Amino acid sequence: MKLSGKTAIVTGAGSGMGRAIAKLFAEEGARVVAFDLNEDAVQAGVDEIKAAGGEVLGIAGNVTNQTDIDNLVDAAKDTFGSVDILVNNAGIMDNFLTVGEVTDELWDKVLGVNLTGPMKLSRAAIQVMEKQDRGGVIINNASVGGLFGTRGGAAYVASKHALIGLTKNIAATYGTLGKIRANAIAPGGVNTNIGSTITAPSELGMRAIQGAGEAPMGEPEQIANVALFLASDDSSFVNGDVLKADGGWTAR
Ligand SMILES: NC(=O)c1ccc[n+]([C@@H]2O[C@H](COP(=O)([O-])OP(=O)(O)OC[C@H]3O[C@@H](n4cnc5c(N)ncnc54)[C@H](O)[C@@H]3O)[C@@H](O)[C@H]2O)c1
Repeated sequence: MKLSGKTAIVTGAGSGMGRAIAKLFAEEGARVVAFDLNEDAVQAGVDEIKAAGGEVLGIAGNVTNQTDIDNLVDAAKDTFGSVDILVNNAGIMDNFLTVGEVTDELWDKVLGVNLTGPMKLSRAAIQVMEKQDRGGVIINNASVGGLFGTRGGAAYVASKHALIGLTKNIAATYGTLGKIRANAIAPGGVNTNIGSTITAPSELGMRAIQGAGEAPMGEPEQIANVALFLASDDSSFVNGDVLKADGGWTAR
């Protein structure tokens, strides 16, 4: 098993990629702390992991709330004794709204969940990882929207570009100490529940993404395998990188 004895925090663990990552990490021997806004969803994920014999703690909370973040990191440390892996996976979309269309409220919400939350959680986790002899690993689930101008609206694309910037900054600073690695995943289209949040897409935003051609669709488990590689010692010399997993969508 690739993650034996490691404690892994996974946000957005109630659905989609986060749920698949939590499940796979538990199968690989990690003690998983599954965190999600949706209490029922996180409990369903916890039940699934426990039924398979995994070790898991489920916590409901919001990645934008500092108290919830502190409670999450404290619970991981107090229950399992360490924080070895943090997967900042929770994220939301923005109906592909362009700059001319986005409201201040939506902008702040998307940046809050997709960027500021991961920064605050990374900060709290790093303060623990720094003190551990074996350091730690941070994985940020970005998007191909973090590398290209379409694949989301203005807020989503800006948040994911910034999340990749944050990843590189953590890698460049803490990575040089040889203790903490940070990498990002840039998935393309993946079959999850996030599509159901696209309720009133922008016409202009949709035209832009259609110009990028039809996306091959992946499954959450395919992204979980990428996360496992980045979490495990198999990637011990990979730091500050962005691993695209998009079935070749952006290769065209
Ligand atoms: N599905 C795709 O095509 C795709 C492509 C590229 C990147 N991504 C990114 O992958 C990540 C996971 O998305 P998914 O597709 O699995 O989505 P999903 O909607 O299936 O799951 C996201 C989970 O995050 C939780 N969440 C949302 N806001 C939260 C908050 N403030 N605090 C705590 N939990 C919160 C939700 O309750 C949900 O359970 C996101 O960051 C998303 O931007 C998705």
